[in-house]
Amino acid sequence: MGAMQPILVTRGLTRVYRSGGVATPALRGVDIAIAPGEFVAVMGPSGCGKSTLLYLMGLLDTPTEGTVIVAGTDTKGLADGQRTRLRRKHIGYVFQRFNLLPTLSAEENVALALKLRRQPVGGAAREMLAAVDLEDKRRRRPNALSVGEQQRVAIARALVAHPTVLLADEPTGNLDSEASDRVMDLVGRLHRERGQTIVLITHNEQVARRSDRLVRMRDGQLLAD
Ligand SMILES: Nc1ncnc2c1ncn2[C@@H]1O[C@H](COP(=O)(O)OP(=O)(O)OP(=O)(O)O)[C@@H](O)[C@H]1O
Ligand SMILES: [Mg+2]
Repeated sequence: MGAMQPILVTRGLTRVYRSGGVATPALRGVDIAIAPGEFVAVMGPSGCGKSTLLYLMGLLDTPTEGTVIVAGTDTKGLADGQRTRLRRKHIGYVFQRFNLLPTLSAEENVALALKLRRQPVGGAAREMLAAVDLEDKRRRRPNALSVGEQQRVAIARALVAHPTVLLADEPTGNLDSEASDRVMDLVGRLHRERGQTIVLITHNEQVARRSDRLVRMRDGQLLAD
């Protein structure tokens, strides 16, 4: 695997947030390369820049300095439309706060990910919900689902278009240990059975132990790998 071309690379990735005249350096020069099929866990204290790193890797935000290379394409200077296309082709994203649309059913939320990519929906959304054990609840809106179920819908939505890389920001953060195990069993299965590349942020050592690579962050930098 080491000889394979990495699927996702960051070079000197830096992000300074500016709000109210205050500059917060959230990331300070992060270099990381993710190989195809790798399952990477990212850990670090609150505020150390984990979500910022994942946003940038997912092309949801642009760096102050440095660059992200996705599937061999350097995204520095890409126009918004090109970034969006690259993101939709390669990235599945599970947000720290799910971001499900409240007026859509679980199935419609998952189907939307395909529609945005102009891909036919057919039975794919329902099948993906079956894969996360939610076929029977597919017509429910998010507020009629438990937090763990909502998280599984968010994972189904992230995966339905078969992204090259799954980026998940604390997918078990709001779950009790049973629901958390269930989500992690699903993530582990995707990794083993489909060779899904996964980058997952977690505060939970137990969750991190399921990965095959653990990256620790502090103050916007990678500590150990
Ligand atoms: N939009 C923003 N504007 C200004 N500062 C921000 C913004 N987003 C994040 N920050 C700051 O950047 C730093 C890194 O935030 P980030 O959300 O990446 O941390 P995190 O490691 O994901 O934390 P947590 O574990 O609590 O989710 C923090 O100091 C945070 O306050
Ligand atoms: Mg975060």
